[in-house]
Amino acid sequence: MRIFSNNSDEQKLIDAVYAAGQGHVFRFWNELGLESRTKLLAQLREIDLELMATLNQEFIQSTENHLMQQKLEPADFISLPKTPEEIEAFNNAKKLGGKALKAGRVAAFLVAGGQGTRLGFNGPKGSFPVSPIKKKSLFQLHAEKILAMTARHGATIPWYIMTSETNHQQTTDFLERNSYFGLQPQNVILFKQEMIPALDDNGRLILDAKDNIFRNPNGHGGSLSALKNSGALQDMKKRGVDLIFYFQVDNVLTKICDPVFLGFHIQKKAEMSAKIVPKTDPEEKVGVLGKIDGRLGVIEYSDLPAEQQTARNSDGRLKFCAGNIATHILDRNFVEKETKGGLRLPWHLAHKKIPFISDTGEQVNPVESNGYKFETFVFDALADAERAVFLEVKRENEFSPVKNADGNASPAAARRDMINQFGSWLEKIGVSVPKDTDGNVEGEIEITPLFALDNEELAEKVNPNLSFGGSLYLV
Ligand code: UD1
Repeated sequence: MRIFSNNSDEQKLIDAVYAAGQGHVFRFWNELGLESRTKLLAQLREIDLELMATLNQEFIQSTENHLMQQKLEPADFISLPKTPEEIEAFNNAKKLGGKALKAGRVAAFLVAGGQGTRLGFNGPKGSFPVSPIKKKSLFQLHAEKILAMTARHGATIPWYIMTSETNHQQTTDFLERNSYFGLQPQNVILFKQEMIPALDDNGRLILDAKDNIFRNPNGHGGSLSALKNSGALQDMKKRGVDLIFYFQVDNVLTKICDPVFLGFHIQKKAEMSAKIVPKTDPEEKVGVLGKIDGRLGVIEYSDLPAEQQTARNSDGRLKFCAGNIATHILDRNFVEKETKGGLRLPWHLAHKKIPFISDTGEQVNPVESNGYKFETFVFDALADAERAVFLEVKRENEFSPVKNADGNASPAAARRDMINQFGSWLEKIGVSVPKDTDGNVEGEIEITPLFALDNEELAEKVNPNLSFGGSLYLV
């Protein structure tokens, strides 16, 4: 069966879909009402059929192994300061970053377009209640840090949030319902990233309903073109912002707009920078910052051959130790450059179980992987950066992502890490905090970012004679 339309634009589109070998998406056309037909055509209009054909040829039909031929090397990074000179360099960077914040040159940019499937939470991941006592959401924790940084530096830090079709409305509603957690609504700017269809093992688009093509967000690399296409870059320019602090929704310990990081980035005239935590366990599932065929990038844990994964330097550190915590600074001009002529980042594919509709119209949730999802990764832009700074930070201070429902990187682990961090701040000012045999704080502590963003601020506000009775909330 071939379908026709008496609207010439529609007919052109329909012809192009058939010509691309994707005519099967119309197989339920006769059962669809006007609304469904319009919806399906609108989705098809958004799809770059040429790109999908290329992805099919290059990735699905090709037998070439793209990864094994690459030369992988570790990358240099700025280590934690030890000597007085290094400590002074960190202090100078902090001053420089502080100046940029005060001058209103910095924006916070959260990527929250992902689907958070591993956590098994129904709703945008940012609305997940996570803090130890008040069960504040990830969004609230981030918002309060921005608010506190704004107060500390006396300048607005606009907050750009990238969502996707899968969670945009829910995210907007959540923030509105909570009055943007005290931020000015005009300084919280939400925009959507683009979606890309998946392909089945034969390179065909997948219907997951009679009138719906299965698509997923185009990866956090899509944030670069989304910044451009949504007008966010233009808005930044108008506000005098030229430094974009990029962070992920899942990390409860993110030091938003860290002045030290900003300072090093400015000092080295970097175009894109990244924070790293040393990977201690070779098996840990984080990507590592390194060089791929001589160009900077992130080597995903699955792409690092076993012997490289376990190789160590003479000092005992893993050779590939620069764990990516997905915290970056991007120059606004660099994003402009990267997005000239559209999104240019390479595509990555993953073989996944994708729900589909059978020829008889039944919904099927496959037990085996049946198709390919495509994504772009923001860290691939590092390959194009003229200069980049990689900065080592302490894991216990800055990295505890909520990814899984239980165990490692779970909400329980994030709560424990927050409590331990707050406990260490209290200890630094002389408050005694009981610990269990694993070194974890016994009891619960929550310190709102508005009360103190770090141990130095806490020291100004808390009396060292304070006695910790097992539960403490400082607001
Ligand atoms: C990611 C990194 C990994 C790093 C780890 C640190 C990749 C491929 N890997 O892993 O190197 O060590 O974080 O926590 O990114 N997102 C979007 N749109 C999308 C896809 C994702 O906005 O289309 C956002 C998510 O909302 C989230 C972030 O990007 O904030 C990370 O996505 P996720 O899929 O959880 O990355 P990981 O595989 O955990």
